[in-house]
Amino acid sequence: MKLTVIGATGRVGQHVVSGLLERKVGPVTALVRDPAKAERLFGDAAGLTIRPGHLDDPRELSEALSGTQALFIAMGSIGDEAVLQRIMINAASRVDSIEQVTRLSVLNASRDSRGINQRGHYSIDRFAESTGVPYSTIRPTIFSASMLSAAGEIRASRTWTGLADSGRVALIDHRDVAEAGVRVLADRALWNSHHALTGPELMTWPEALGLLSAEIGERVTFQTIPARDLLEGMIGRGIPAGMAELLIAREWAILAGENDYATDVFAQITGHEPRPVTEFLRDFRDEFI
Ligand SMILES: NC(=O)c1ccc[n+]([C@@H]2O[C@H](COP(=O)([O-])OP(=O)(O)OC[C@H]3O[C@@H](n4cnc5c(N)ncnc54)[C@H](OP(=O)(O)O)[C@@H]3O)[C@@H](O)[C@H]2O)c1
Repeated sequence: MKLTVIGATGRVGQHVVSGLLERKVGPVTALVRDPAKAERLFGDAAGLTIRPGHLDDPRELSEALSGTQALFIAMGSIGDEAVLQRIMINAASRVDSIEQVTRLSVLNASRDSRGINQRGHYSIDRFAESTGVPYSTIRPTIFSASMLSAAGEIRASRTWTGLADSGRVALIDHRDVAEAGVRVLADRALWNSHHALTGPELMTWPEALGLLSAEIGERVTFQTIPARDLLEGMIGRGIPAGMAELLIAREWAILAGENDYATDVFAQITGHEPRPVTEFLRDFRDEFI
């Protein structure tokens, strides 16, 4: 089976590419805007073609996707990335060889979620349905790697400033998200469905910081401030306004309990348990010290 990955240089996409190659699912094309970055990540891996492209050009996309049977898309749900995802899905729906588009979405993707990300992904799903393209998503909960966004603050002050001091999440490792994506692409029985993925253990942000404290041997605490101050602080640090709003809304969704459940879908798909948060923290501990 010939595969194409878009978002191949991102956090999840890069592990999807390497997982597809390791499992020899088929030849993989990474369609990227920055081929130098892709070459740094993948070298000259056997079975991989790095193809530079303009992802907003439908004709270029059609040419690039011609002959591909399965396409994986791992990009953001708001702003330009949301526009690009629609252009790609539309282009894929017109390519005869495409048998499946699998997209990285999010847990609770729905019209009514408090999360901007969830509503954004829902809207892309609606668009995909309208094109008639054969379509599936993986819908992971919040990544353990989200804690890396606080690494600078944690290194400087041993605190993490947010809103959600309650509300649990079964954080999932982004490498597990990618593995689930690879399994879906490789197994036609998993096509044309939505796969809700979580990690193994529900916890609050303060509890996750308790695990980090144990890992690095120093106490890290969660502190809350008014939402307006958090938003302005993020924008002041250079986070684009749309992403800052998305992150604030993510906290509201957590506080509302939207993520307070775990699924066994990852184990069903892969045949093994997802990584615990402690494994992520051990592997990435240097980022926090
Ligand atoms: N973080 C979480 O906790 C979480 C939880 C569940 C779901 N998700 C979902 O995961 C997705 C993000 O995945 P990720 O963390 O793997 O993303 P990421 O690391 O930000 O990667 C995004 C990819 O898209 C490419 N890209 C972005 N803008 C582009 C543009 N204008 N033109 C061409 N390429 C562009 C990037 O290319 P470059 O490498 O060249 O920049 C990169 O390859 C989002 O949809 C999010 O909703 C996240």
